[in-house]
Amino acid sequence: MANVTVIGAQWGDEGKGKIVDWLAERADVVVRFQGGHNAGHTLVVGGTTYKLSLLPSGIVRGTLSVIGNGVVLDPWHFRDEVAKLAAQGVTITPDNLHIAETCPLILPFHRDLDGLREDASGAGKIGTTRRGIGPAYEDKVGRRAIRVCDLAHLDDLAPQLDRLCAHHDALRAGFGEAPIDRDEIVAGLREIADFILPYARPVWLTLNEARRRGDRILFEGAQGVLLDVDHGTYPFVTSSNTIAGTAAGGSGLGPSAAGFVLGIVKAYTTRVGSGPFPTELEDAIGQRLGERGHEFGTVTGRKRRCGWFDAVLVRQSAAVSGITGIALTKLDVLDGFDELRICTGYTVDGRPFDYLPPHPQDQARAVPVYETIEGWSESTAGARSWADLPAQAIKYIRRVEELIRCPVALVSTSPERDDTILVRDPFAD
Ligand code: GDP
Ligand code: IMO
Ligand code: MG
Repeated sequence: MANVTVIGAQWGDEGKGKIVDWLAERADVVVRFQGGHNAGHTLVVGGTTYKLSLLPSGIVRGTLSVIGNGVVLDPWHFRDEVAKLAAQGVTITPDNLHIAETCPLILPFHRDLDGLREDASGAGKIGTTRRGIGPAYEDKVGRRAIRVCDLAHLDDLAPQLDRLCAHHDALRAGFGEAPIDRDEIVAGLREIADFILPYARPVWLTLNEARRRGDRILFEGAQGVLLDVDHGTYPFVTSSNTIAGTAAGGSGLGPSAAGFVLGIVKAYTTRVGSGPFPTELEDAIGQRLGERGHEFGTVTGRKRRCGWFDAVLVRQSAAVSGITGIALTKLDVLDGFDELRICTGYTVDGRPFDYLPPHPQDQARAVPVYETIEGWSESTAGARSWADLPAQAIKYIRRVEELIRCPVALVSTSPERDDTILVRDPFAD
């Protein structure tokens, strides 16, 4: 297995960016395959913090980075993010970053619609990032999208714009909004096309060539399995498939390319946005987890909801995503607790469940069944070897492995790149 697919196994923000950056040293190419700039991946390298939303995390090391066809691309955001990273000294050129020619574009009216729907939803809102992700995916599946390759054919855009505007103008009228200004959209696309087109490539072809050469491909998932549009806490999910299986379709490689599926798992649980969260702690312990873990969203700055580790959810994620092994992150955040709890099952109206039932009302009513495990007073922060971990922390890790039925491959003990314990090299598997 020369390749590794990194995915989030919870509700996102598990520390995928840090782990992808760490693994990128061993990879020849890093590929994003779904989502868009709703993601927020934070890397800390020698005290410098890099925040990436759309660009693959491998770019910080200079590893060849690819934005696959499964990603929805906001071209103006792309330009801004390239400029922001360039200002931090990261070199990004069409030589080390490729964008699939078939990526659907996120346009300004997608962002408008995302916000209009959220504002109109009151208590039922999803709590999206308001970046137009859902509406852009709707247009892709509805066969109305404008894609990266269309930027080279802007004079032929009229029939596509007709269909797109007919659809969106009807929706906009329902919200009391003016129709789309077509000239403004075309002028915007003309202005951005020269910046985007040099990066546009048949990435399915270059990735297949890389695979034939035996290059190591590292797939970087965004969001997490519980935000997957099929397997997550629907409708409080994102609009793409976030599971490992998407790596192939979202990049143009066959399913056997996924290789070692590395699930990134936070040592406790967080969620940003609305939706069920059985182990959520709205008390001093939740507050403490949030403060110790600096749990604020990278993209929106929103406070993340915090709770105990939910082994039921991660076991389910591991199963539906075919996770081979996990990277357990933010173990250090649990330092200093007298005792820790792990959710091992639920009851819904007295009925026991060893998985999350599909209906949102049942999910909202799920009462966790906990087991309590002794904490540790020593610090794990910055630990770089198994031998540095207190015995009780090792017990916690072993119990997690047992409950989720998956071995630990990596442990992360701080935001810093090298504060990482390698247990089993995913690339060597
Ligand atoms: P991603 O979306 O999965 O890439 O995760 P985010 O970057 O949104 O959120 C994870 C946050 O935790 C970031 O601020 C990381 O710098 C930080 N982080 C990652 N691993 C660790 C760790 O092991 N310990 C601590 N304390 N922070 C970590
Ligand atoms: P990373 O890659 C955490 C959440 C939003 C909202 C829901 C739908 O950093 O882990 P969307 O804008 O995608 O339509 O919002 O999904 N969400 C994330 N939560 N981490 C993310 O990405 C997320 N991307 C989207 O908060 O609940
Ligand atoms: Mg994030």
